[in-house]
Amino acid sequence: MIQLFQVVKTFGPNVVLNNIDVKISKGELVFVTGPSGAGKTTLLRLIFGAERPCAGHILINAINLNRISRSKLALLRRKIGFVFQDFKLLPHKTVFENVAIALEVTGLRPRLVRKKTHQTLRLVGLAPKEKAYPPSLSGGEQQRVAIARAIVKDPLILLADEPTGNLDPDLTQDIMVLFRNIHQRGATVVIATHSRQLIAGIECRTIVLNQGNIFEDMG
Ligand SMILES: Nc1ncnc2c1ncn2[C@@H]1O[C@H](COP(=O)(O)OP(=O)(O)OP(=O)(O)O)[C@@H](O)[C@H]1O
Ligand SMILES: [Mg+2]
Repeated sequence: MIQLFQVVKTFGPNVVLNNIDVKISKGELVFVTGPSGAGKTTLLRLIFGAERPCAGHILINAINLNRISRSKLALLRRKIGFVFQDFKLLPHKTVFENVAIALEVTGLRPRLVRKKTHQTLRLVGLAPKEKAYPPSLSGGEQQRVAIARAIVKDPLILLADEPTGNLDPDLTQDIMVLFRNIHQRGATVVIATHSRQLIAGIECRTIVLNQGNIFEDMG
């Protein structure tokens, strides 16, 4: 489902990923961890097609991202949910609109968009805030809007970048339950985090990045 072959990513002299080979099968739940600057966000962005590798190639559902057209990439992304580390919410749209947008672009009927958006906002505990604008929300609330936007379309692949960094332990547990439910429905879930608390107690594959390499791949 997600395959990286000999992927190199550099920014100027900075070699962030150095000949990385990774295979993540359909339906896996995987953590990507490693110190700040290790390349976790870069790895997720490469998988999302938001960055291009300097060498090597990436296949998503057997589609080579090096060769894909912009329009095909847009179609592929409809199946991928991305929780951005910096949220990327639209400040002039309400919480409801920020989440609904992810469904509107798929062409779903407005009635279903409304129903699914309400459902998802309830799941992340944000129903009371649906008319609020992102700048008026706390960090944890903004993070949950970003999570709702990523999961509302029932993605086949969920890429979550430090998704619980701004949440308290109780909310972190709730969000992990949500991610596990999505995983149990058959989605492939990749979670980047440096939180040991998040990984502790969950038996699953963990890819550890360090200095451009995969330091460890276990589970
Ligand atoms: N667009 C960019 N231009 C230049 N350098 C970049 C860019 N994006 C990332 N980098 C560099 O690549 C390295 C890896 O960054 P990345 O954001 O992937 O790390 P990370 O593991 O997600 O870190 P954190 O845990 O702090 O989120 C860093 O040294 C960063 O400065
Ligand atoms: Mg990061």
